[in-house]
Amino acid sequence: MRKWLLGGLGLLLLLCGGGVAAVVWLVSGTAVDTVGKVAFDRPLKIPPLAPSTVGADGTRVFDLTAQPGASDLGHGANTRTWGYNGSYLGPTLRAARGERVAVNVHNRLNEPTTVHWHGMHLPAKVDGGPHHPIPPGSDYQAAWTVDQPAATLWYHPHPSDRTERQVYRGLAGLFILDDDQQPAGLPHEYGVDDVPVVVQDKGFDGDQLSMSDRFGSDVGILGDEILVNGTRGPFLDVRTTLVRLRLLNASTARVYDFTMSDGRPLTMIGTDGGLLAAPYRTDHVRLSVGERAEVVVAMRPGERVELRSRATGLGRFHGGRDSFDVLQLRAAGDLKAGTLPEKLADIQRLDPKLAAQRRTFTFQGRDINDDGMDMDRVDAVVVKDTTEVWNVANGHDTPHSFHIHDVQFQVLSVDGAAPPPELGGWKDTLFLQPGRRYSVIAAFADYADPTTAYMFHCHVLRHEDEGMMGQFVVVEREGDKPRLGHN
Ligand code: C2O
Ligand code: CU
Repeated sequence: MRKWLLGGLGLLLLLCGGGVAAVVWLVSGTAVDTVGKVAFDRPLKIPPLAPSTVGADGTRVFDLTAQPGASDLGHGANTRTWGYNGSYLGPTLRAARGERVAVNVHNRLNEPTTVHWHGMHLPAKVDGGPHHPIPPGSDYQAAWTVDQPAATLWYHPHPSDRTERQVYRGLAGLFILDDDQQPAGLPHEYGVDDVPVVVQDKGFDGDQLSMSDRFGSDVGILGDEILVNGTRGPFLDVRTTLVRLRLLNASTARVYDFTMSDGRPLTMIGTDGGLLAAPYRTDHVRLSVGERAEVVVAMRPGERVELRSRATGLGRFHGGRDSFDVLQLRAAGDLKAGTLPEKLADIQRLDPKLAAQRRTFTFQGRDINDDGMDMDRVDAVVVKDTTEVWNVANGHDTPHSFHIHDVQFQVLSVDGAAPPPELGGWKDTLFLQPGRRYSVIAAFADYADPTTAYMFHCHVLRHEDEGMMGQFVVVEREGDKPRLGHN
């Protein structure tokens, strides 16, 4: 019903002179297909590792400046973009478990922003959500002690109402965590055999980024080309038989379903929050907005093979028919051999029988449990050092992406059945397929603060901006009341 309405609306807009986009939409039925059409003529850019200084007290200090600039995204050198410490995206921050880190953030944009440390376990005060805007021209510091397994995390803006536009313009970066539990044999040379792959879709209007939605989109901006680390048509020179790709879906709305062009396996080794227990060979990896996966691809000397994203099967209004060439891997004639370890990590399973609380959240329209975001409402009061089971359902035919701040969770079930292997590790973001029910469990350790909320929300950034978010507060003891804003 809804789709017919949207279709009718598209036609109406066309009749009113909706322009080229409307014609393309009507003729193509919205499907974009770049497979076989991408030149792969630019070397993949590797985001630099952010410099840091370690002070006398052992704190590792980083600096991030959010700033406007001009970038070459494949449409000339003058595309107006935003970045951290540069004109597009940001450097990769890297720290080890046990380290105290501090990040000085400088806002040199002409509007407020925040920086959220996606996937990081840290105090609510430095979580970087919409409660703590950094006004234009001002500075902010977040400091915490890293205490979680090695993982591919990321950072991005999280202000009220403007997250989609700020990320789309280029504000995002990786935050890689290390620990001393890494099994021997995993590729680990940054940018060489351990490669960041930040995937984003973009649309262009002339030489500028297009901010307009594709007709009928129910998820916000959907682009018709792919950038990897800000590179259009990228290739990567490979010198080892095993190459590790740290995939991040840093798009605003799009869901990807990654495959290799010749059908060879992608061996998944990690999810959002760290390594899997053991490598998992699969022929595709699906990532919704905000999710990460670490995969290893096996290469033979001299060959070329492409990473692609195939149609996801979601509806046309969610970009579900689109397919893309993403990244070409080009193997040298001589490759350094490697072997993957059979065991990767010890993952302690959380026991749902010990859960202190069970909650249900249904995602529908732009609401969670029939409510939109309200900064004064606390949706869940969680007691520190307890575990909770959250049942999360997508009550509609729109895809959503469910994210909880502060914790990494484990998936207990999908529609009542045991989760598939790709959901067997630590997660902070979960694709909510239309109509499905998920059950997850998390331990809310270490940090209580009755005055400051953490968020949980849909990570489709348009949905988030439109209020598909809720708040939880972690309190010290059972019976403690949240006191938002009373610090
Ligand atoms: Cu990646 Cu609340 O966000
Ligand atoms: Cu959503």
